[in-house]
Amino acid sequence: RPLAKAGNKTVWTGEGSTENLKEIMIGRCFNYLGTVNVDAGEKDCPNLWKAFLSAFSEKDPCKITTEDYQPFLDLAGHDIPINQSIFWSQTKGLILQYTGVTHKVMPLESTLVGYMVDGLNWCGKLSSPEPNFEACPGWKECENNSISSFWKAASEDYARRAHGEVTVMLNGSARGDTFRNNSIFAEIELGELDNARVTFVHLWIMDNIDGPDKESCDVGSVAVLERILKEKNISYSCKDNYKAAKMLQCMDKLDHPSCRLGE
Ligand code: APR
Repeated sequence: RPLAKAGNKTVWTGEGSTENLKEIMIGRCFNYLGTVNVDAGEKDCPNLWKAFLSAFSEKDPCKITTEDYQPFLDLAGHDIPINQSIFWSQTKGLILQYTGVTHKVMPLESTLVGYMVDGLNWCGKLSSPEPNFEACPGWKECENNSISSFWKAASEDYARRAHGEVTVMLNGSARGDTFRNNSIFAEIELGELDNARVTFVHLWIMDNIDGPDKESCDVGSVAVLERILKEKNISYSCKDNYKAAKMLQCMDKLDHPSCRLGE
């Protein structure tokens, strides 16, 4: 619900679009194609920006659908190398650190689509084709806002491209459920994984270094996820506090008892 209306100008309470949105996205696109992933194929960066902008330009920022982003996703999409898909819920920071040091995974944020958009904010307005740099709908103001519809659409497209072995990193110290049934992972991505394309799922349940150890493999909401994988006939394994990721958490907490060498 918008806070106030002045004429036909709706005053939203969320942060406005990121300054220089267009330049950042086009610049990131050239950077991605030229230096980050030279295997992404031929793409026209200014045209990708146009397709992205068209999804929400001159529209009510609370009425943006996942379909609005399909033209952008179709143009920007590229293959994900086999065995490199990795999904997360409430472990974004750790996943991106892990991605930075290993060359074995390509999360959504390391595809062209995710790389161009990660960390940005945007919405449009009815009165002009420009993004609204003053304000955007906050997360609670409307569900079908330009940002959440984008991440839903991008996540679905990303999950469809997964093949071979995939990895899922969840947070065993999460405030709510570790496998939260209304997360994008549960609601959108998991449904796209089937045993024709996905041969194995590696589940990693990572607790925060300081705990609490709320959930673990084989119990609680993680057991629910394991049952779903069984029903889907997808083989999996589950590891609590997978060592490689734990070592990254320990980089910042060398003195913590559970980070001492040999443990
Ligand atoms: N940058 C900013 N926000 C994002 C990003 C991103 N790169 N990716 C997702 N979001 C938004 C989504 O709206 C998402 O619901 O942040 C929320 C993160 O919520 P979590 O509970 O941590 O996780 P989840 O809802 O499962 O979304 C993460 O979806 O984007 C995909 O592949 C990604 O597996 C991952 C999952």
